[in-house]
Amino acid sequence: MPNRCEETLNRIALKFRKTAETARDAGIIPYKSEKGQWVSSPYDGNSWWTGGFWPGLMWQLFTLTGDAFFREEARRAGGLLTEEFRTFNRLNHDVGFMYLLSVGADAKLTGDAQAETDMLHAASLLMGRFNPAGFIRAWNEPERVGFAIIDCMMNLSLLYRASRDTGDPRFRGVAAVHADTTLREFLRADGSVSHIIELDPETGARVREHPGQGYALGTQWSRGQAWGLYGFTLAYRHMGQERYLDAAKRIAANFAAHIRADGLTDCDFCQPAEPERLDNIAGAIAACGLQELARITGDGQWDAAAEKLIAGLLDHCADWSDDRCGILTHCTASYHDDGAGRHTNITYGDYFLVEALMKKTGRDPDLWS
Ligand code: GLY
Repeated sequence: MPNRCEETLNRIALKFRKTAETARDAGIIPYKSEKGQWVSSPYDGNSWWTGGFWPGLMWQLFTLTGDAFFREEARRAGGLLTEEFRTFNRLNHDVGFMYLLSVGADAKLTGDAQAETDMLHAASLLMGRFNPAGFIRAWNEPERVGFAIIDCMMNLSLLYRASRDTGDPRFRGVAAVHADTTLREFLRADGSVSHIIELDPETGARVREHPGQGYALGTQWSRGQAWGLYGFTLAYRHMGQERYLDAAKRIAANFAAHIRADGLTDCDFCQPAEPERLDNIAGAIAACGLQELARITGDGQWDAAAEKLIAGLLDHCADWSDDRCGILTHCTASYHDDGAGRHTNITYGDYFLVEALMKKTGRDPDLWS
């Protein structure tokens, strides 16, 4: 497996070295690849939550190759993202994804002082979303004032980083309150997690669960399971509470039990057999979280599950042709809504595939910490 991962990373770097030039020339942050071209996000311009994955991918490839082209392309996209600070109303809890992997990575890997300042600015925006009733508000619409979402467990990484870099425990303190609410309200007895929970914005009491990007209310959207698995693993790593590690293991066990025989990942673990609906982004995220869990616990079962996922992605869903600018096929943004892409190449799938391979070969720059 390590040799295969090494060779695959080199092929990925070669392909992106070529296709990233077209993104630079078009002046866009790629969201997905269609008919041999990069296209930007279908919603909200550069404020769409996925904008950090392209620069994150470039920082991963810069770490791999040392090629300054990737650093400059990461900075170009990072510059577009920091302009979005001025939109405010379109930014939401996903500033963690957007700015940790762009300016946060820049500050971490090069020591750039402005990048560090921009990263702390983003962390303050995330802090500003905290409701003292016990949670970080997900989105801005007035009717969603009490909505919290499992994906936010990954965004907490921006807060751990801000506390470490400033010596100010407030950021991590907010992360701990949100993580405890997520533990209480999202984790189910079978080790699966809900996607969206509405809480009373005055008291923090549970109002109801809402359906999200999965098959139906109460089902198991696989990407949400992956966010929970990786997010609670990182929460344990940064905050050291055994209850977070226990949650990570339970979510990991449930995820591992649902990996298909071919190593691929269904969009929802409760979806009907037909039509086939895959989400390889979920598998790639889980392959990262499982490796991190294996590293922390020393338990080889999590590495074995990660290897099964990586092998499935490389065996069945890696596209080396010029039909797509990226690599990973069969990425699905949402079970029912095809607007953001179904069974296609989406950049955050490629980001997590590369992170998984970088972890496997011992080169991961550890951008979530
Ligand atoms: N954070 C939204 C998603 O995973 O689609």
